[in-house]
Amino acid sequence: MNSFHKRYWNLPIQNSAPLRRVTLLVDGKPEVVNQISLAAAPEQADWWAFLDTHVWPGKNLTFAEENVWIEESDEIWGSETLYKESLRSQVHFSSRRGWLNDPNGLVFYDNNYHLFYQHNPYGWSWGNMHWGHATSPDLVHWTEHGDALAPDSLGAMFSGSAVVDWENTTGFGANGKPPLVLIYTASGEQATQCLAYSNDGYKFTKFSGNPVLPEITPGNRDPKVFWHVPTRKWVMVLYVETSGKRHTIHFFSSPDLKAWDLMSVTEGGIDSDKFLFECPDFFELDLDSNEKNKKWVLTAANSNYSIGSFDGTVFTPEFSDISDVQGEGFYAAQTFSDIPQKDGRRIQIGWIRADSPGMPFNQLMSIPSVLTLKSTPEGPRLARTPVKELESLRDVSATGSGCFELHVEITESTEFEVSGVRISYDYKNQELMVRDYKITVPLISGKQNLMVFVDRTVLEIYASDGLVYITLPHLSQGESLPERGQLYPLRSLWDI
Ligand code: FRU
Repeated sequence: MNSFHKRYWNLPIQNSAPLRRVTLLVDGKPEVVNQISLAAAPEQADWWAFLDTHVWPGKNLTFAEENVWIEESDEIWGSETLYKESLRSQVHFSSRRGWLNDPNGLVFYDNNYHLFYQHNPYGWSWGNMHWGHATSPDLVHWTEHGDALAPDSLGAMFSGSAVVDWENTTGFGANGKPPLVLIYTASGEQATQCLAYSNDGYKFTKFSGNPVLPEITPGNRDPKVFWHVPTRKWVMVLYVETSGKRHTIHFFSSPDLKAWDLMSVTEGGIDSDKFLFECPDFFELDLDSNEKNKKWVLTAANSNYSIGSFDGTVFTPEFSDISDVQGEGFYAAQTFSDIPQKDGRRIQIGWIRADSPGMPFNQLMSIPSVLTLKSTPEGPRLARTPVKELESLRDVSATGSGCFELHVEITESTEFEVSGVRISYDYKNQELMVRDYKITVPLISGKQNLMVFVDRTVLEIYASDGLVYITLPHLSQGESLPERGQLYPLRSLWDI
């Protein structure tokens, strides 16, 4: 039995140790069950995870199991090297400790961008799904908070979204302030959709009436919710696999986020192509910046998307299953909800599946990009540009971070190296070769402007006026700075 005195309970993790069940008791009652590769002795730890006791203020915390070794401290173990670790991304978000995957609940609330994410606080690999939580005033500098959601008797906390309930349709608001509401999948014996809310953006309470949507078929998941202005109701898009392994998106509506009615179901992709598989997002964009010509975009976890119209009930695709992000690693992207109208940007972050071997953390988020819709000879297409706030990291004196942004203008076939990766462009065939990928990258007015971002475990390329975006997991060789193009060394986002 351990009773708590200090903020952090640091736990020794040995990645190869068998998983052990560890049950957190709050005031004597089982609250969270985790499966943890605990080291048998502190000397055997590969790294230290931590439990932040501030998530349960004023409560008596203990573990149900005997012999769970912890180091209580006011600091997380290893805090002296936190964010300075050799493979710590310097211009991308990654978690202090443990595994992350999908971005969840991206929302602007109380003048801050909130980024929640699939988090295993106690492991280097996937498991024990919590919702991690970080906030940023500018989409560049992030501050991490304790996990917002921990697994409960309904299951692990799978992916979902967040909305500001401006009209307090849920009744969760307090003192005239709109609540922040999280809509997530609890993945237990059944996969159900649930709510949690907050009145300050930091402390979350699960709704006592959970689940708000029962299981439709096993594995249904990843609710993305938004307020549909013309019909004044909430709309949820949900991934559901129907009989015959058809991957569909179900559209539901609700007046209050609590009672949901099915409105329509997409045709559904077949299993082999995985289109419309997991983590849908659905939003409206102006085509060619023309606000009189709006289109709806339905995206899937693998970044493929359809473009069409939405009448508040049914999505009618005009262009289906368009492939988007090139290279590898980009997955389960989501766009921010509730960005103020005067800003009007549709900002997207994806998970980059890039390992950080030997580190006390693993995986990272992509650069936030602004999405637009552009006409092309093939039809409308999504385009991306990095958020302009990232320019605040440009700093000529920052060559030491090994992270940089490179702009290269190409007017003929060319070849150069960036951080040990060969990049060549075949001008005649309009093809970019990067490592073993050959990607069609159309010229724009006879030119090719590449924007390359290099961080410790990832390389990203924006090309063809944003119509092409490429991500590549890559262990940086930061010492060798490129000799081509305009180089902007980048300061670390963690140095404030
Ligand atoms: C996508 C995904 C989601 C699920 C989550 C679990 O990466 O499989 O469908 O909600 O990860 O972590």
